[in-house]
Amino acid sequence: MTDKLKLGLAGIGTVGSGLLRLIEARGKSLSTRAGRPVEVVAVSARNRRKKRGVDLSGVRFVKDPIALATDPEIDVFVELIGGESGVAKEAVEAAFRAGKHVVTANKALLAHHGASLAALAEKNGVTLNFEGAVAGGIPVVKVIREGLQGNEISRVYGILNGTCNYILTLMEREGRSFADVLKEAQAEGYAEADPTFDIGGFDTAHKLALLTSLAFGTRTKFDAVYVEGIETITPADIEAADDLGYRIKLLGVALRTDSGIEQRVHPTMVPKDTAIAEVDGVSNCVAIDGDFVGDVMLIGPGAGGGPTASAVMSDIIDIARGQILPPFGITTKHMKPYKKAQMRAHEGGYYIRLSVYDRPGAFAAIAQRMATQGISIESIVQRRPEVAAGRRGGPPPTAVVMVTHQTTEDAVRKALVAIERDGHVAAKPQMIRIEKL
Ligand SMILES: NC(=O)c1ccc[n+]([C@@H]2O[C@H](COP(=O)([O-])OP(=O)(O)OC[C@H]3O[C@@H](n4cnc5c(N)ncnc54)[C@H](OP(=O)(O)O)[C@@H]3O)[C@@H](O)[C@H]2O)c1
Repeated sequence: MTDKLKLGLAGIGTVGSGLLRLIEARGKSLSTRAGRPVEVVAVSARNRRKKRGVDLSGVRFVKDPIALATDPEIDVFVELIGGESGVAKEAVEAAFRAGKHVVTANKALLAHHGASLAALAEKNGVTLNFEGAVAGGIPVVKVIREGLQGNEISRVYGILNGTCNYILTLMEREGRSFADVLKEAQAEGYAEADPTFDIGGFDTAHKLALLTSLAFGTRTKFDAVYVEGIETITPADIEAADDLGYRIKLLGVALRTDSGIEQRVHPTMVPKDTAIAEVDGVSNCVAIDGDFVGDVMLIGPGAGGGPTASAVMSDIIDIARGQILPPFGITTKHMKPYKKAQMRAHEGGYYIRLSVYDRPGAFAAIAQRMATQGISIESIVQRRPEVAAGRRGGPPPTAVVMVTHQTTEDAVRKALVAIERDGHVAAKPQMIRIEKL
């Protein structure tokens, strides 16, 4: 067995302490799998005295993560602090300049700076591994970077945020409102006190930006991701989706089109008879469409100390074995500039729910607006009256649900603006994209 691989671990929170527990649990078998002993020699955190339920005796504490990153004793800097800039970024850059390999689970950092950090790693002859940054415990980086290298990938998509999936699952099972379920998810620790990042779709967008680069060989481009969260989904949408044969999931989708790459995160109707529709609760799932392999789908735990530590450990073992790959599978000089397909050019089917005043001519006017934009309707259903939706003396508005045939985002948006302007609807129209699977 060769020399020990010495780790400097910055961040001993949920994932960092999970990693320490994993190393303790594996014991000697870790050296056998890695081909050499692997040891954490120093750690960094904000609070030295915090009880963490892990044995840190014999491990040096280094107050400053940047000092740890450049510590002469370490071979690998494991960054588990988090954040797209600040100390995490500075420490990772310092580690590269000092010739250390870096392992991180920091999706925010890589979504914003993935290509430039990969270039810095290359320049210094070291690697940047980030399996834990995309879908936690699901080994999807390895699958795309190694297992599917023989394929042209046309689409990669998935359920990439457990909090959103948990909320949507509970709303569907129990017929409860978004606000009500969110409150419960926060009380049970499935949602943060400030849940914006998860429910607004931004966490999904970070992961999608990394999947896009891995799948299409393009430079990471987080600000090109179109993002919509799940805040506007109502029990009425979930019920209507069910009647139409769909379930609603927050998907991240990256797709090659003739005009460029679409990267979008939004609530999506998926047919009930597909595998992704069955992914419930906090589980994640990533699907990859390759030309030779066909469709591949991975399902598993997308977050948590244990699952993410499992991913981080696989990155560390690769380094111990000397398996050093370009971070995004190809060298940065071969990564193509990102060419964005405009969201308004997106083509697909749409679910539209309108709260329509019960007035003569209202339906005809709505149909006319859709026709003007060349939208053909696959089905239209008048649902029960919406008693809660802004009654002003007259009969309550009625929920009308339409499903369109294939059309463009631009056409749908223009039609809905015109419908709202005509004044026949009591609330902002709801629109949910349908994904062909
Ligand atoms: N949690 C998950 O399920 C999960 C899943 C996938 C990826 N990730 C990613 O993994 C990373 C870590 O997440 P986490 O959930 O483990 O975070 P966390 O529980 O908040 O832990 C963060 C750790 O970083 C330390 N830290 C913060 N600022 C520091 C500073 N300036 N100097 C030194 N140490 C500092 C904290 O120290 P103290 O403990 O002393 O406060 C803490 O130990 C993030 O990038 C996250 O996106 C997390």
